[in-house]
Formats: sequence, C-alpha cells, structure tokens
Amino acid sequence: MSTTTSTDHHVKTLGVLGAGQMGGGIAQVSAMAGLTVRVFDAFPGAIDKCKAVHAKSLAKLVEKGKLSQEAATAASGRISFVNTLDALTGCDWLVEAVIEDVKIKKDLLSKLAAMYPDESVVLATNTSSISITDLATAAGKTAHRVVGMHFFNPVPLMQLVEVIPAMQTTPQVIDRTIALATAMGKTPLRANDRAGFISNRVLMPMINEAFYAWMEGVAEPEAIDGIMKLGCNFPMGPLRLADFIGLDTCCHIMNVLADGLNNDRYRPCPLLKQLVTAGRLGDKTGRGVYAYPSK
Ligand code: 3HC
Repeated sequence: MSTTTSTDHHVKTLGVLGAGQMGGGIAQVSAMAGLTVRVFDAFPGAIDKCKAVHAKSLAKLVEKGKLSQEAATAASGRISFVNTLDALTGCDWLVEAVIEDVKIKKDLLSKLAAMYPDESVVLATNTSSISITDLATAAGKTAHRVVGMHFFNPVPLMQLVEVIPAMQTTPQVIDRTIALATAMGKTPLRANDRAGFISNRVLMPMINEAFYAWMEGVAEPEAIDGIMKLGCNFPMGPLRLADFIGLDTCCHIMNVLADGLNNDRYRPCPLLKQLVTAGRLGDKTGRGVYAYPSK
C-alpha cells in the first residue's frame, strides 16, 4: 500500500495534549518539521521535565550531526507550553497523548470536540491499543475527524507512525494524517482498528512470551535478551524493551488484547503482573526486569 499522498495536511499550529514521553516526542518532531507547537499539560512538573528532555534530545541530534545548531534552536523556539485547554485555541490539529485510560481519553476528546466546532480541526489520538472507533464516539457528530496516530518511543528516532482510522474516519482525514506524518519525517503505515492494531498485536505477545520463558526457567533474562538480540538482530531484547516501555503498560496492553480479541491466551504472564504489583515498572521506577540504579 502506498504510504504517501499528495493531499496537503493544512497544519500550521499543532496542539499536543500531554507533556509525557510520547507527547513531548511528538511535539519535538513536529517543531523540527517547522510546525508551531503548543503543548498542554496541567502538571508544571511534567512541563519542566519535557523541556529538559527536549534540550537533551536536540543537543544529542546536533552532536551526532543530524541537526544543525540553528535548526535545533529554531525548533525549540517553535514550542510553547500551556496549562489550560483554552490556551490551545487557534490550533488546527490536535494530538492527544494523555494516560492510556478510555474514560480520561473520551472525556478529553468530547471536550475538544465541543471546543473546536470547526470540523477541519482533526482530533488525533496516540493511543497504543484502545479502540479508535470507541474513542471517536466521544466526538459525537464529528466522530469522522478522529484518527489514530500511533508514534513509537523514542519518537525522535523511530521511523514509524501507525495510522489507524476509526470506522467513522473519512478518507480525507486519513489522507491528511498520512501527509502530516510524512511531513514530520516519519513513515506512516496503515492498520485497521482491531485490538493492538499491528504493532502491539505482534510485539506484546512476544514480550509476554519472554516473561513466560523466564518464569518457566527456560533461561535467565540476560540470555533471553541476548538470544533475541544476537539471533534476530533486535536492538533490544524483549525483556529490556519491556522495561523501556513500562511493565504496567505491557500488562495493560495484554489485557486490552485479551478483552478485544476475546481470548485469554493474551492475558499478561503471572510474573509480569507480579513485577507490576511489586512496583517494578521498568526504567521509570529504576527497576523492572533489570535494575537501573542511575534512574
Ligand atoms: N533523542 C535523540 N537521541 C537519542 C534519543 C532521543 N530521544 N534516545 C536515544 N538517543 C541517542 C542515544 O543518546 C545514543 O547516542 P550515542 O550513541 O551518541 O550515545 C543513540 O541515540 C543510540 O542510543 P543507544 O546507544 O542508547 O542505543 P541504541 O543504539 O540501541 O539506540 C534505541 C537506542 C534507538 C532506543 C534502540 O535501542 C532501539 O531502537 N530500541 C528499540 C525501541 C523500540 O522498539 N521502540 C518501540 C517501543 S514500542 C512503542 O513505543 C509503542 C507503544 O505503544 C508501546
């Protein structure tokens, strides 16, 4: 299937909801692509952290010769941070990247649909596995402008944007999404709206299986990861990647797959659940499968 389109995305000012890892990354690549970006987050701490992550990532890209210092400074200058939804007024495309909670996402999308009666303002969601068709219902009569735009972590380095139309999404919105992702320097690929789409439908059961292999004593984590890295050329082994993604997120996505596909074979491995219960969530808590003392 073709990944490019001649349709213009018509976006000048992009609003990002959520200044976390994903929202921050989306804001950064959008600003690097020349868009004016406003990032909303209600928590001042999240905004401060996001600014620090941008500075570090842009400096790294300059250091590696992937970006000039002028371009990095200009990209930084195109990003502003706001702490009220009203301050997003004037954006012509919104991407929500808030917590993976259906109710919170639907509440937000319903507010945004009411605040932005102009139907040309697309409401994109960066959900990793929640049904786009279900989320779109929150936009009521303008459900056709809701679309899934699934980015990958770390956003500045990962090439893919998985584009997932809801059952209600119009072809024009899909084309504009593909055009926007392309303009961001990414490669958009389409998937249909089924639990986990493609990326997490295939990735998460593999990660879950790695936990089963560990739990059953087939091998220790270092060997499981080493085998997959050296034998399959993965940049990270599945257990290291689970820590990087967050074990709570992995657990959550497995449950979404089990519920959405009506099949308990997708339920999270008991050992994965137990680590989450113990608060070992991965890089973000300093310990998951592995320990990260510096974090
Ligand atoms: N911005 C700029 N530079 C960055 C960066 C960022 N955000 N993150 C890492 N880098 C830099 C590093 O600083 C490093 O630079 P250096 O070599 O000068 O020190 C360079 O990129 C390479 O990083 P590392 O040396 O740490 O290690 P790698 O060569 O392995 O690259 C990686 C890191 C790109 C993260 C690589 O390990 C990788 O591709 N891992 C797999 C990531 C993956 O699968 N992501 C998808 C997760 S699933 C998901 O997001 C979907 C969700 O729904 C769950």
